[in-house]
Amino acid sequence: MFKDTEKKRLLELTKAFLKSNASALHVQDLREVLHYHEWNYSINNEPLISDFEYDQLFKDLQTIEAEFPDLITSDSPTQRVAVDIVDNASTIKHLSPMLSLDNSYNADDLKSFDESIKKLTNLPAEEKIVYCVEPKFDGGSVGIVFENNLLSRAATRGNGAQGEDMTANAKTLPTVPLSADFSKHGIHVAELRGEAVIHKDRFKKINTERESKGKSVFANPRNAAAGGLRMKRPNETRERGIEIFLFQMGYAVDQDGNDVLPNIDSHFDQINLLAELGFKVPTIEKKQCFGIQEVIDFIQTWEEKREDYAYEIDGMVVKVDSHALQVQCGFTQHHPRWAMAYKFKAKQASTKLIAIDYQIGKIGSITPVAKLEPVQLAGVTISSVSLHNEEFIQSKDLRIGDTVLVERAGDVIPYIVKSLEDYRNGTEQVIEFPTRCPSCDTTLVKNENEAAWRCTNAQCEAQQMQRLIFHVSKNAMDIDGFGKAFVEIFYQKGWLKDLSDVYNLDYSKIAQLEGFGQRSVVKLEAAINEAKKNPISKLLHSLSIHHLGKKASKIISEQIKHVLDLKDWNAEAFTDIKDIGPVVAENVVAFFNQEENIALLQKMEALGVNLSQTEEDKPIEVGEDAPLAGKTILFTGSLQNMSRKEAQEMAVKSGAKNISAVSKNLDILVAGEKAGSKLKKAQAIDTVQILTEAEFLLLING
Ligand code: IVH
Repeated sequence: MFKDTEKKRLLELTKAFLKSNASALHVQDLREVLHYHEWNYSINNEPLISDFEYDQLFKDLQTIEAEFPDLITSDSPTQRVAVDIVDNASTIKHLSPMLSLDNSYNADDLKSFDESIKKLTNLPAEEKIVYCVEPKFDGGSVGIVFENNLLSRAATRGNGAQGEDMTANAKTLPTVPLSADFSKHGIHVAELRGEAVIHKDRFKKINTERESKGKSVFANPRNAAAGGLRMKRPNETRERGIEIFLFQMGYAVDQDGNDVLPNIDSHFDQINLLAELGFKVPTIEKKQCFGIQEVIDFIQTWEEKREDYAYEIDGMVVKVDSHALQVQCGFTQHHPRWAMAYKFKAKQASTKLIAIDYQIGKIGSITPVAKLEPVQLAGVTISSVSLHNEEFIQSKDLRIGDTVLVERAGDVIPYIVKSLEDYRNGTEQVIEFPTRCPSCDTTLVKNENEAAWRCTNAQCEAQQMQRLIFHVSKNAMDIDGFGKAFVEIFYQKGWLKDLSDVYNLDYSKIAQLEGFGQRSVVKLEAAINEAKKNPISKLLHSLSIHHLGKKASKIISEQIKHVLDLKDWNAEAFTDIKDIGPVVAENVVAFFNQEENIALLQKMEALGVNLSQTEEDKPIEVGEDAPLAGKTILFTGSLQNMSRKEAQEMAVKSGAKNISAVSKNLDILVAGEKAGSKLKKAQAIDTVQILTEAEFLLLING
């Protein structure tokens, strides 16, 4: 969309505009700058300036255009509702434009808003207007259309007039009912507005998981939610745990196409109607306020308790409650005149970036971490923040010695918003990302679809230490009381070299270490002995195989009697299992192809670590009378009514076990269209029952 040179020019211009009086510069440049930042925010999901700065630039443009109307162009950001749409996606026209909101930052702004409402509606100054106040959710906007009580389509906001089609994705979200009884209220077609958000706890979990898989983490829940709406595969949207809060009915007509919104007296009633229809809406988070002072007080209580709220909110929205008054106020091209966003103060502080530390993960990913002069931010002292990867550093042009603006984004992880260039004195150093591993000096590599540089030396000490820390952690073998500090001490003593050493410790030596009493050593030994009995799903996960998470480890463990069975598996055998993708398959195959890994597992087994499938590893039992109980099955060729994975899932539910090769062990082969060599092979074995897809369906459905 934007070329690199263009981005650079626009960033230079941004700095110039923010520093000086905008009217002294060219208005067309200001438009381009705004357009660029809209794109960064809404499409690229990577804002480079704060909302406050964006608003400042937007208002500058409005001021210039108000003074010189001749300068207004039809493509000015002030003349359209919002931003561009993502290339190559199919678009949906909204039934009514999805507008933005005007912003306010203090009580005086709100009082002016109240005065303007009274002017627009010819009400006396002493009148107490009724407002509905609700959170300003910080996620991704969506519009959802219901026709004849059924969800018919859903779209992102896009440019306000049309957005990206996300119907299939929306349908996966539990907070979005697939049907709702609109007709009961005389509504034939309705377009609902809402925000896709992610619960703060869920967000933390997603990032922990991504980090453990070597993927780049999301800077905040908004990016995770907005990106999640656009996933190519709807299942991925669902798995992200997105929830949709509805806050507006943008359009509603009856069978004859007549507007029925005037029949709903107030915004408060509208929201309650949506709640009644089964949608997620603000409940205790919203309030009908009588007069602007009540609005100001309610907003203040929310600004104070914002941290405790389960979702990210960046402010509150004040809406004139009465529908009749809303109609009198009307709209500008950009926002309704009857609504106003109140933006909370960002939790930001500035401090010095002293140095960069490069941390090496358990699979070798290098994460740059900024060491900061300690600074207080929303009650917490911040002295280091992750910089994620090289691109992050470059996009923000961070330098050692810079004064940087730090924000506690998502109330979870602090992050650097930008460096404050005005504070530079020329002594700052450009950050040179290392080309070799800081621990073992191996040349770093970067895969095309990954953000992180990686050290590929499996023997790298830093990596080994991280793998040991992970192996004993709660997430993996869960060895009670065996934390990072113990690993570091034992590693330095030379007692831990590889994972098998965890099960070969000399407890009498540990008991002699300072700070280790006899009792704690007994406890440690008991915990290690307990961990030896773990199900193999835990063991597999604890090996730090790139991308192999908990879920995939469990799925694989269901299929094997012994961990070393995996020596004989090829990538196809893995991908034949539902939910195992090619990347995991390739990595597990690579792991089990290495002699030293096999030797490691054998050593662990000799030390008493369980490598055999346990009851806990086995798949859920199906009844003996299930139609395919005890049978092995294989699908080949292309199926017409379902995907291969769906068919395999059905087979498992009916008691069968999917296997990947034709042999005498195979009971049933389901041959779809264009079945090839597997069918031929099966025909040669007379114990294999060969079924068509239809026969298979008939069999499992009794
Ligand atoms: S009302 C016609 N209410 O903020 C009025 N918007 O900056 C349209 N937002 O695009 C918006 N919480 O995605 C409204 N309670 C709320 C909101 C809300 C979040 C988002 C929305 C909108 C953006 C405008």
